Amino acid sequence: MELVVSIVFVLLTCAGMSASSVDRNRLLVNMTVVRRAGAIGAYCLDGSLPAYHIHRGFGAGARNWLLQFEGGGWCNDINSCAERSQTRRGSTRLMNKLESFSGILSNNASRNPDFYNWNRVKLRYCDGGSFMGDAKFDNGTLLLYFRGQRIWQAIIEDLLPKGLSLARKALLSGCSAGGLASYLHCNNFSSYLPNTTAVKCLGDAGFFLDSPDINMYHTQRTFFQHLVTLQGIEKNLDKNCTNSISDPKQCIFPQYLLKYITPPLFILNSAYDVYQFHHILVPPSADSLGHWNHCKLNPKACRPDQIRILHAFRVEMLTALRSFLFNSSRGGVFINSCFAHCQSESQDTWFAQDSPKMHNETIAESVGDWYFGRNVSKKVDCPYPCDATCHNLIGPAF
Ligand SMILES: *[C@@H]1O[C@H](CO)[C@@H](O)[C@H](O)[C@H]1NC(C)=O
Ligand SMILES: *[C@@H]1O[C@H](CO)[C@@H](O)[C@H](O)[C@H]1NC(C)=O
Ligand SMILES: *[C@@H]1O[C@H](CO)[C@@H](O)[C@H](O)[C@H]1NC(C)=O
Ligand SMILES: *[C@@H]1O[C@H](CO)[C@@H](O)[C@H](O)[C@H]1NC(C)=O
Ligand SMILES: *[C@@H]1O[C@H](CO)[C@@H](O)[C@H](O)[C@H]1NC(C)=O
Ligand SMILES: *[C@@H]1O[C@H](CO)[C@@H](O)[C@H](O)[C@H]1NC(C)=O
Ligand SMILES: *[C@@H]1O[C@H](CO)[C@@H](O)[C@H](O)[C@H]1NC(C)=O
Ligand SMILES: *[C@@H]1O[C@H](CO)[C@@H](O)[C@H](O)[C@H]1NC(C)=O
Ligand SMILES: *[C@@H]1O[C@H](CO)[C@@H](O)[C@H](O)[C@H]1NC(C)=O
Repeated sequence: MELVVSIVFVLLTCAGMSASSVDRNRLLVNMTVVRRAGAIGAYCLDGSLPAYHIHRGFGAGARNWLLQFEGGGWCNDINSCAERSQTRRGSTRLMNKLESFSGILSNNASRNPDFYNWNRVKLRYCDGGSFMGDAKFDNGTLLLYFRGQRIWQAIIEDLLPKGLSLARKALLSGCSAGGLASYLHCNNFSSYLPNTTAVKCLGDAGFFLDSPDINMYHTQRTFFQHLVTLQGIEKNLDKNCTNSISDPKQCIFPQYLLKYITPPLFILNSAYDVYQFHHILVPPSADSLGHWNHCKLNPKACRPDQIRILHAFRVEMLTALRSFLFNSSRGGVFINSCFAHCQSESQDTWFAQDSPKMHNETIAESVGDWYFGRNVSKKVDCPYPCDATCHNLIGPAF
């Protein structure tokens, strides 16, 4: 089964709408292919070499590093991975070589006040397993690499001598499948850096809940179980977590991993995350008659009973975050109530005149407050539809 975010299309449309204002001074960054990755068997699904895009820091940020995992769903069986290996999500050969850096990756202080002058790196996603796999499929006619963990290792080892090993401050981030990767790799990231480096992690739209769908089937759990098995992920999951839970595969869910993540962590997510709404709460398999079609396209078209179910999902997310919210003194939280998915990468949701806000603060300001310890930064929105600052990805008027 292939779970490429079905709302990517909408996202692109959305980016296209604001393109006129952003395009003029768009920052495009060239791809760096990791030539030495082959030596440790770090390959994309199709056997191509992994890659990243780097834009150098300067001034006061010259020794600070932001690493950002690209997202883009997962593939969890041979057919969907074979298919993906022939697309830009499974092969660096098929990717755009110039990547646009915006939002948290922007180099413009008025668009990215706290990280604009850092070394900023985008890790391209080509393994289909949130940079966690370590397996291979080879039946003589079809060869697929599930080598996400080695790709992660190869990229880090390529960056260390380029200055990462001397970092004063470091932030590991990512969105969606990349947000999940930043939770899963947070401890490992910190193990590569000296104990004098301030290491922190940010998960954007990566807090995928272990929640049943509207028919009480564990659709997402089953999906992840197949992913972990196919891609050999279990051995790379956090040992403290896998040792403390009856099914170790469950440790791919951030909610179970959370208490074992050592560096300070920021959780950025919408409580009505569109991906989770469409794939975890109401996956197509749970709504074959299409009762949710209108509501999925436009929250204003949801019936009261559907809104109640969406609210219950929000409560479930807040419950999973309860102990982090109350007890993590170094943690940050921004859980808004927008029909959104990924809010740190695009300029209009990260930091702009009309960006989403809570307590009058944008996401960029909240993340900066947390990273630099300027203020406590834990914000939870009131339930939909109270927040007028949302950039909803769905709905006729966005
Ligand atoms: C930086 O961003 C501001 C606000 O969007 C814009 O007015 C300015 O032209 C940008 N500067 C550069 C060098 O792109
Ligand atoms: C990107 O890098 C490639 C390979 O190093 C080079 O051939 C190409 O000219 C670069 N493109 C730009 C726009 O810098
Ligand atoms: C290898 O696997 C692919 C995908 O499942 C299948 O189409 C192909 O027939 C298999 N080849 C052999 C030799 O079994
Ligand atoms: C981090 O990951 C690398 C590469 O997979 C591995 O060799 C290393 O042991 C890991 N470090 C820790 C502390 O888990
Ligand atoms: C940091 O590591 C060095 C050696 O690697 C060690 O001597 C020192 O005690 C460590 N400092 C802290 C605060 O852990
Ligand atoms: C994880 O386990 C190791 C020992 O295996 C322990 O030193 C460490 O404190 C544990 N970390 C957390 C966050 O529980
Ligand atoms: C916070 O930690 C305390 C002490 O460990 C514990 O008693 C309490 O239940 C925790 N609160 C939540 C909401 O997890
Ligand atoms: C909201 O923040 C802006 C800029 O950060 C500030 O100018 C404004 O006074 C604030 N509004 C309120 C109601 O605090
Ligand atoms: C710090 O955060 C609190 C709670 O959100 C807010 O009331 C206060 O104004 C903030 N202080 C500063 C200096 O931004």
